[in-house]
Amino acid sequence: MTTWSSPPAAALSSGRRTGALAEAAFVVCLEARPETILARLTARGDTEQLDRPLLATDDPLARITELKAARQHLYALCDWAVHTDGLTPEQVAAETIRAHDERAAEILAAAGRVEAMTAPAAPAPARTLHAVPEGAACMVGAASGEYPVFVGWGTLSGLGGLLRDAGLDRYAYVISDETVWHHLGDEVEASLRAAGIEFDSYTVPPGEASKSLDSASGLYDWLIDHRAERGHTVVAVGGGVVTDLGGYVAATFARGIPLVHVPTSMLGQVDAAIGGKVAVNHPRAKNMIGVFQQPRFVLADAAVMRTLPEREIRSGLAEAIKMSLLDSEDHVAFLEDNAEAILKLDRDATVEAVRRSVCFKAAVVSEDEFETTGRRSVLNYGHTLAHAIESTTGYSRFRHGEADGIGMMAAGRMSVAMGLLAPEILDRQRALLERYGLPTNADGLDRARLLAAVALDKKVQGKKVRWVLLEGIGRPVLRDDVPGEVVASALDSVLD
Ligand code: GLY
Repeated sequence: MTTWSSPPAAALSSGRRTGALAEAAFVVCLEARPETILARLTARGDTEQLDRPLLATDDPLARITELKAARQHLYALCDWAVHTDGLTPEQVAAETIRAHDERAAEILAAAGRVEAMTAPAAPAPARTLHAVPEGAACMVGAASGEYPVFVGWGTLSGLGGLLRDAGLDRYAYVISDETVWHHLGDEVEASLRAAGIEFDSYTVPPGEASKSLDSASGLYDWLIDHRAERGHTVVAVGGGVVTDLGGYVAATFARGIPLVHVPTSMLGQVDAAIGGKVAVNHPRAKNMIGVFQQPRFVLADAAVMRTLPEREIRSGLAEAIKMSLLDSEDHVAFLEDNAEAILKLDRDATVEAVRRSVCFKAAVVSEDEFETTGRRSVLNYGHTLAHAIESTTGYSRFRHGEADGIGMMAAGRMSVAMGLLAPEILDRQRALLERYGLPTNADGLDRARLLAAVALDKKVQGKKVRWVLLEGIGRPVLRDDVPGEVVASALDSVLD
């Protein structure tokens, strides 16, 4: 492929190449994560490949990541992508043939296809890719800079050292909730003291009510009282409420000061602390007042979850299940095979479950940080209905992950009814949710009210309801053409 000596020449030359490919054939991109590419090169004994000029570096993984990022705008031009992580060569071939047989005719006939492939967008601006710091599970490639996500067990005590390594050691404003601080405050304080970092802490009552403009206002007062300034850091230690509130305050105080997330809930670790969306609630709409603010790093210590109530762990794991269904066969199989160990918070299984979720989400967010291409929207699998279930039950009957399990079942049912998904995969999804003790249906919900709540979302978005459906494991698709009767019947299937 091309190296980018000068953008205009490179764009011209890559345009010719992609145009020639487009005219000749159905173009399939075989996607894989950098870790998978490196593992394949090494596993099949191709160590000489690692001597290739492009990979001759002390850190081939970072180099592969960098090359992929530089080429992503070209890869994105393909007609079809097969995510090959976890697939055998035979499965990749079968997927490619299936895509060709089922979709090629329609895609090749699309107006403007060749032109689009001949005029690729400019290469992404050069970014400085830092080597993945030791202990980081993966990096999130955000426009505002790349940042590492650390996933481990018993690693909270390293918080101060990580702040120091990241150059965030001038002053830390630690925001937490009263319950989390009761359990973890001493350890956080000891870690900051050991690293010689001055700090102050502020706690809010646990619960969604703290995710408000009033709480943010209290925090602004506190920061002003303490003469907080741009070189100081907000460290949010807690669940989704705290990371959202702390993130929103860090993003808006003095037009933005550095932010570090230390998620302590399962939902926070596998999902909410990654991605940069931070918000507080408006009295009339959840998450309505918010911004994108990426943290400088995320530290997820799975061991801190040992004090969480079981229901909260199960509910958070619904998001891990969602990520696996969007990601790969291998990821789903991991959650199937390790359910008991993960539910018991067995060290290795739990760290691996968090790591897999985080790294999948990191990859998605890196591709579509501001949710403009549709790639990031796939993370809403199950969410459209989950939000309607939560709002029509006053946010009290179901935890978010529980509502999401029901939402995923409805979305899966729509996928089957639309002829996209094999019924066996839907059965597997149901079995997986059940293994984790999550509801797959609920009585007493009112179909008409749910439909009205979904429609309200539609009105807010000013467009048709866009459902995230599945064409298979690892193959989400956005559809805004789901017939009303298919939606109604899918709702009925989860309301009995
Ligand atoms: N903070 C959650 C997200 O960005 O997806």
